[in-house]
Amino acid sequence: MVLVLCFILAYFIGAIPFGVVIGKVFYHTDIRKGGSHNIGTTNAYRMLGPVGGTLVLLLDILKGTLSASLPILFGIDHHWLILIVGLAAVLGHTFSVYIHFKGGKAVATSAGILLAYNPEFFFIAFAIWFSLILLTSMVSVASTLGMVIITSWSLVYHDWLLTTVACGLLVVFFIKHRANFKRIKAGDENMVPFGLGLYL
Ligand code: G3P
Repeated sequence: MVLVLCFILAYFIGAIPFGVVIGKVFYHTDIRKGGSHNIGTTNAYRMLGPVGGTLVLLLDILKGTLSASLPILFGIDHHWLILIVGLAAVLGHTFSVYIHFKGGKAVATSAGILLAYNPEFFFIAFAIWFSLILLTSMVSVASTLGMVIITSWSLVYHDWLLTTVACGLLVVFFIKHRANFKRIKAGDENMVPFGLGLYL
């Protein structure tokens, strides 16, 4: 019963669209109405600036970490449950009950789950992701290519559940970044104003 409660709570926490909330409350802006129309960190940077973007990044990571940690907080001490319950937060973020079952691309929320599961691997993943942004200047490329690298890297840990969940998230990332891939193909993907801008 407690575990079912964890899944439900994780969904509702994961579903909080912090990009929309921060935009509306502090900037009187709906970030869904501009840029890539996404509710995530990258579009929050575009629409709200670095402070708003960073706030959305931290809160989206935090909601993933908190949701994934619910079983432990409720006294169920099975480390592997972090990954399974964390997936409910990803479901919430991508199909949010608060915004008509629309949602984001699950990058920061997934990172939050990894932070709860394996902090060391989280910092490696963050370094890979940020390096790819510096190389390509495209967050979409960094997120999807980063996830491919991270999924492969998870094999190093010989942790089959982590690898399986990472494969599942990789599929979610590719589905959610379809519009980005179209823009990349057309040569008009949004770039961040730093980095080398290497085109793949
Ligand atoms: O955070 C999602 C990122 O990978 C791409 O975001 O707004 O450029 O579609 P965006």
